[in-house]
Amino acid sequence: MRRINIAIDGFSSCGKSTLAKQLAHHLGYTYIDSGAMYRAVALFAMEQGLVQGGQLDKEGLLRALDGIDIAFKYDDDAQRSATWLNGRNVEYEIRSLEVSQRVTLVSPLPEVRAKLVRLQRALGQGGGVVMDGRDIGTVVFPRAEVKLYMTARPEVRAERRFLELLGNGADVTFAQVLDNIRQRDADDTSRKADPLTKAADAIEIDNSDLSAEEQFQLALGHVARAIGVGAEV
Ligand code: DC
Repeated sequence: MRRINIAIDGFSSCGKSTLAKQLAHHLGYTYIDSGAMYRAVALFAMEQGLVQGGQLDKEGLLRALDGIDIAFKYDDDAQRSATWLNGRNVEYEIRSLEVSQRVTLVSPLPEVRAKLVRLQRALGQGGGVVMDGRDIGTVVFPRAEVKLYMTARPEVRAERRFLELLGNGADVTFAQVLDNIRQRDADDTSRKADPLTKAADAIEIDNSDLSAEEQFQLALGHVARAIGVGAEV
């Protein structure tokens, strides 16, 4: 069967990764979390002392950019793919609120985006990839056979992220999480380089009132049509 690329874009905490993982698992495709790469760059900048008082030393980060190695490896213990930064598993650290709050310092930089887009395209070269992010259908894979654009109300998204962070033992309030989501929505849509926009040929899914299963079935229907086969996909 033809192996296509599936691009899933949308605001943060829209359930993109849940859907992307479900589709990848069902189709036997590889799931790639492009946001994890931006998070890894932010973590790198923080660890190198390049973020001070909420300000990024942009020149310092650009000088260090060639030395940032990001990879995905299967974690046998956790039984899922993990993000590695310069030879170290950083999957847990990149999900912290501290990284979430600083990632939009690095994600608008065209040099950072160019590096990560190159890596993302290389990963999708052979097809059979489900990638989620902000610019996958518009920039990374403009010819992806299926493009989904996910939305959900900010309060619904904050609730999901809040529960996830609590589950990880984080000490955060709902208000902080909602605030961070609103801030990132504004940053993601207003930045000059590759802002979050819906590709003209993307299918919009608002999942505020959909269960994960309902959303999955909806998306799978679109994938089946694109591959040109029936519901047995
Ligand atoms: O999907 P996420 O919340 O883990 O993404 C983290 C940040 O990275 C988010 O604030 C926007 C940025 N990002 C991006 O600019 N482009 C992408 N393709 C993916 C994420």
